Amino acid sequence: MRGRRSTGYRGSPMSAYWSKVVHSLTPYVPGEQPKLANLIKLNTNESPYGPSRMVLDALRAEVGDTLRLYPDPGSDKLRAAIAKRHGLTPDQVFVGNGSDEVLAHVFLGLLKHDSPLLFPDITYSFYPVYCGLYGIDFVPVPLNAAFEIDVTDYLRPNGGIIFPNPNAPTGQQVLLSEIERLLKANKDTVVVIDEAYVDFGGVSCVPLIKQYPQLLVTHTLSKSRALAGLRVGYATGNAELIEGLNRVKDSFNSYPLDHFAQAGAAAAMEDNAYFDAMCQKVIASKTKLVADLQALGFEVLPSAANFIFARFPGRDGADIAARLRERSIIVRHFRNPPRISPFMRITIGTDEQCAGLVEALREIV
Ligand SMILES: Cc1ncc(COP(=O)(O)O)c(C=O)c1O
Repeated sequence: MRGRRSTGYRGSPMSAYWSKVVHSLTPYVPGEQPKLANLIKLNTNESPYGPSRMVLDALRAEVGDTLRLYPDPGSDKLRAAIAKRHGLTPDQVFVGNGSDEVLAHVFLGLLKHDSPLLFPDITYSFYPVYCGLYGIDFVPVPLNAAFEIDVTDYLRPNGGIIFPNPNAPTGQQVLLSEIERLLKANKDTVVVIDEAYVDFGGVSCVPLIKQYPQLLVTHTLSKSRALAGLRVGYATGNAELIEGLNRVKDSFNSYPLDHFAQAGAAAAMEDNAYFDAMCQKVIASKTKLVADLQALGFEVLPSAANFIFARFPGRDGADIAARLRERSIIVRHFRNPPRISPFMRITIGTDEQCAGLVEALREIV
């Protein structure tokens, strides 16, 4: 390979200086963040509203001389706020730089075993990327004909199980009773439920943590707490699972959350009135948007998330998304697997943004 340059990720040249593993990676491609003004941005499931005032005040209070000091490596105040919110103890909480980082540690620390990891064939596309990074064998489990996760399909030998609930990009949720059925049958390996979107109409399985020591639940402050820019996520579970994650974290980066992230996130976890009001607003906008799109002839999967997955019979999702883009509206389209290519994933925006989307779609279809 020495001196040779071939084409790799995103057409970039492969380097002879890279370690072997880098050549084999297929990195995650995040949704784009265009630097354009007047865009209706409905492509990355961010909150259309800003964070609470309490968060902004907490961030401002961190500007000062104490920035010369390293942050608290244990993020104690933040973990206490999260524990209080969920009725847990701080040793049942792990925090990281976005739930992406939390998940990365989960894959390495709890899901890398001899038997293959199971996750849906249509799901958060970072999961196979972590498997590639850490050399984890996995088996994609197909969603059923209605694009739902059927837990019966997971009742087989495995090295771990992970899926988002509600799932992404479909938005559909698995009932709590079904998750419990899975946990009762699957006691020997870790079951991770990624609740990135649960606050927009889903039912959290955090209360099951006390009964099931193999259950880990991950969360993010990027969506329902409107803090995608601060990069904070967390996991809740049995203290033994959390200790495993701490061992990975302290072998990687002892200070993943800076002063701002810890203070801002703690304030966000405490301002439940603002959180509840924003989630209710998004849910109300979603109900209206779904009705408007159905009236135009779209088929919309039931969504418990802050996005919907919609298709128009006989039309290609990529084509509609391209026409929206010409009108400065961006949504997310996935070409693969081909089964979801007719769909677009549309983040719930403000009522005004949703109305703009509906008007554009009326012209397009
Ligand atoms: C299902 C799911 N899990 C986790 C994440 C990561 O969120 P973050 O790293 O912003 O906390 C996302 C982001 O879109 C997601 O869709």
